[in-house]
Amino acid sequence: MTAQHPVGVGIIGAGNISDQYLTSLTSFPDLRVVVVGDLDTARAETQARKYGVAQWGTAADVLAHPDTEIVVNLTVPAVHAEVSSAILTAGRHVWSEKPLAVDRAEARALLDQAAETGLRVGVAPDTILGPGLQTALRAVARGDIGIPLSAQTVMQYAGPDQWHPNPEFLFAKGAGPLFDMGPYYLTALVCLFGSVSRVAALGSTARTVRTIRSGERAGTEFTVAVPTHVSALTQFEGGGVGQSVFSFDSPLTRTGFVEITGTEGTLVLPDPNTFAGEVRITRVPQGGRDAEWESVPLVGVEGGRGLGVLDMARAVRGGHPHIASGELGYHVLDTMLAIDDAVTSGETVHLTSTAPAIPLVPEDRDPRATTL
Ligand SMILES: NC(=O)c1ccc[n+]([C@@H]2O[C@H](COP(=O)([O-])OP(=O)(O)OC[C@H]3O[C@@H](n4cnc5c(N)ncnc54)[C@H](O)[C@@H]3O)[C@@H](O)[C@H]2O)c1
Repeated sequence: MTAQHPVGVGIIGAGNISDQYLTSLTSFPDLRVVVVGDLDTARAETQARKYGVAQWGTAADVLAHPDTEIVVNLTVPAVHAEVSSAILTAGRHVWSEKPLAVDRAEARALLDQAAETGLRVGVAPDTILGPGLQTALRAVARGDIGIPLSAQTVMQYAGPDQWHPNPEFLFAKGAGPLFDMGPYYLTALVCLFGSVSRVAALGSTARTVRTIRSGERAGTEFTVAVPTHVSALTQFEGGGVGQSVFSFDSPLTRTGFVEITGTEGTLVLPDPNTFAGEVRITRVPQGGRDAEWESVPLVGVEGGRGLGVLDMARAVRGGHPHIASGELGYHVLDTMLAIDDAVTSGETVHLTSTAPAIPLVPEDRDPRATTL
């Protein structure tokens, strides 16, 4: 394969999220999806046929395919590290859905394996590459809100047992609202404020048994193994504090709330689980009046889930770092594990990992352009 060809991509895990990935990845001319694999090979076949991918089979079939340079891991969190490690062993770069792993030891081992083999690890969320967060990063860097001081985020709803056909993994180790949705909110905060240095948190579990509400298994009960409501405080190394709610226990849906307050203004971001949306700012102290809002024009081109795979593919060919990196994913995982530890112990937990600086995506970068 020469550098003039699109980068070959394989996918392991043909479940719920694979539609979004396959829609995007098959629309980017710099990538070519060549094979889809799953434990359930019928599911892999269905998804491959639906998106015009020529081959399908098991995970081993994906790893054996000669034309893959990157393998995308869309399995469930409990096996993320095991599957990603097998991908590296097969000599392919890994893009993994979040979280990178379920504990620090397996996450670190994975990054060490990548470093030893000269291969790359990229980790979701790649929403940080979208125009929404990129516009907010530029606004903060320009000083639009002065010096950032604090952040508030809210993600609360009734939980994925309402809509996911196989939701058990979302209430098991490696998920719950903190590990499932935390990556979007905490990665956004890390991009905006830098590394987290310490956390405090409280949590609770409203119900230890839940019922699947959609799909063929609707009515099936399962056990909840994690806190389903977490309130976390985060302190950032370079200054600034955050407060975040992650909850699957609220009949009231309030998601995508991210607000950053600085010395000169407050910036409201779009949902960090999306790629665009509205960025707005208020700088006039409100007093008793309604807030006066200005829209911040979005910069960048929308791409959808899979943008991180594309960024990594272009970085592989260009020989430069990719943005949604394994080290960033490690720091966010470390932050979530620290929050989880704080829930259990009731103590403040200090972090030792740090996140790399996050470069801005060039404004004119077009995911649908042919560049390779
Ligand atoms: N569903 C969403 O809306 C969504 C959104 C963003 C991210 N994610 C993330 O994507 C990942 C997958 O989520 P999902 O909702 O698609 O889950 P899912 O349960 O619908 O699909 C997971 C698929 O992986 C397969 N699988 C599991 N272990 C495997 C193995 N060892 N080898 C090969 N295949 C294996 C399963 O058979 C299944 O088809 C999770 O990490 C989740 O956090 C999901």
